[in-house]
Amino acid sequence: MFSIMLLFCTSLLSSYKAKECSTTTPLFVMLGTDAHLEVTEPVHLVQHSQFRWTFNNSVNIVRVFSDNTNRTHDNYKNRATISGDYSLLLKNLQQVDKGYYTAVFLSDVDKCLAEYSITVEDLVSAPELTVESVSNNSDLCVLTVNCSAQDSHIQSTLRYDANNCSLLEGETSKVTADGASLQIKLVNCSVSCNHRNHVSELKAVKKIQHFCPTKSASNKTTQVVIPVTVIGICLVLSIGLFLKRRPTGRTQTCENTIYDTLQVSDNLCLKFQGEEVKVKASLQRQQKFILSDL
Ligand SMILES: *[C@@H]1O[C@H](CO)[C@@H](O)[C@H](O)[C@H]1NC(C)=O
Ligand SMILES: *[C@@H]1O[C@H](CO)[C@@H](O)[C@H](O)[C@H]1NC(C)=O
Ligand SMILES: *[C@@H]1O[C@H](CO)[C@@H](O)[C@H](O)[C@H]1NC(C)=O
Ligand SMILES: *[C@@H]1O[C@H](CO)[C@@H](O)[C@H](O)[C@H]1NC(C)=O
Ligand SMILES: *[C@@H]1O[C@H](CO)[C@@H](O)[C@H](O)[C@H]1NC(C)=O
Ligand SMILES: *[C@@H]1O[C@H](CO)[C@@H](O)[C@H](O)[C@H]1NC(C)=O
Repeated sequence: MFSIMLLFCTSLLSSYKAKECSTTTPLFVMLGTDAHLEVTEPVHLVQHSQFRWTFNNSVNIVRVFSDNTNRTHDNYKNRATISGDYSLLLKNLQQVDKGYYTAVFLSDVDKCLAEYSITVEDLVSAPELTVESVSNNSDLCVLTVNCSAQDSHIQSTLRYDANNCSLLEGETSKVTADGASLQIKLVNCSVSCNHRNHVSELKAVKKIQHFCPTKSASNKTTQVVIPVTVIGICLVLSIGLFLKRRPTGRTQTCENTIYDTLQVSDNLCLKFQGEEVKVKASLQRQQKFILSDL
């Protein structure tokens, strides 16, 4: 009983689906290329039945009759081919080919076997990414970029701070007049301007740090130069002190401590003229060399 009901329901459903052609497959095809439209259900042509592919439910692109003869519409003679499995190959699609393509089985009851809605799209144009302004008055670098293609553009403000980048404000995407999309993305401190439709995508990419170069470069230099200078000055001072006040010969434990703040302890251990010598520096305890003093 249950299985009969199930059978009844499925047949109802499938007949409904067939009549209404409820599944329409959207298909985006690049201008000038081909489309291959398939029929997934098997087709059995019996007497007085017919199979056809129609365009916008009015133009019969190709018809196959029950005696296995077929006829192609004059406008499609050179660019529509039907194969043994009733699939249709449509070549060199142009904008005028946009519309609905339906495979129909005509008999006592007509049945839709497949339907496609085709949209023809051209290759997107190359987008342009420009840096409109750079502000670097504080610790971080803030820049405004303009991403444009055709008649549309979007702008965003980005921040760059110690290899850390983020989008601050502005639009990040927009749909252009011809249905393509324009998008600003930020990945790994590279900003990209993407122009995309269903069949193609082009992007323009720029590394943010190229527009904020001086700061990161000078930071690196500072990080190296200051410690080297400080250690150098410290050594010169210590050698000077050593030469001025000869060691008394007392053995000291070697404790060379140079703190971050350049606090020099009273026991200095130096390599002097190839020999390791231990000195008691005549420095005041806790004497500090602060960066600004150097
Ligand atoms: C359509 O007819 C041509 C000959 O006119 C034949 O070569 C071709 O195989 C036929 N196609 C189908 C799907 O019957
Ligand atoms: C076919 O149908 C589509 C969708 O309704 C329409 O945009 C297009 O202009 C039609 N094409 C022709 C040639 O009538
Ligand atoms: C962004 O680029 C577009 C297209 O090149 C241009 O029309 C627009 O004026 C630019 N915006 C700014 C603020 O420069
Ligand atoms: C980047 O910024 C985020 C939030 O502003 C912060 O949590 C993170 O530690 C930063 N990373 C680096 C490498 O500075
Ligand atoms: C980001 O950079 C890291 C290291 O430079 C790399 O491993 C990773 O693949 C990059 N991610 C993307 C999405 O480019
Ligand atoms: C940073 O700002 C100074 C003036 O404030 C300017 O001379 C310099 O060109 C700016 N650097 C960048 C990368 O914009």
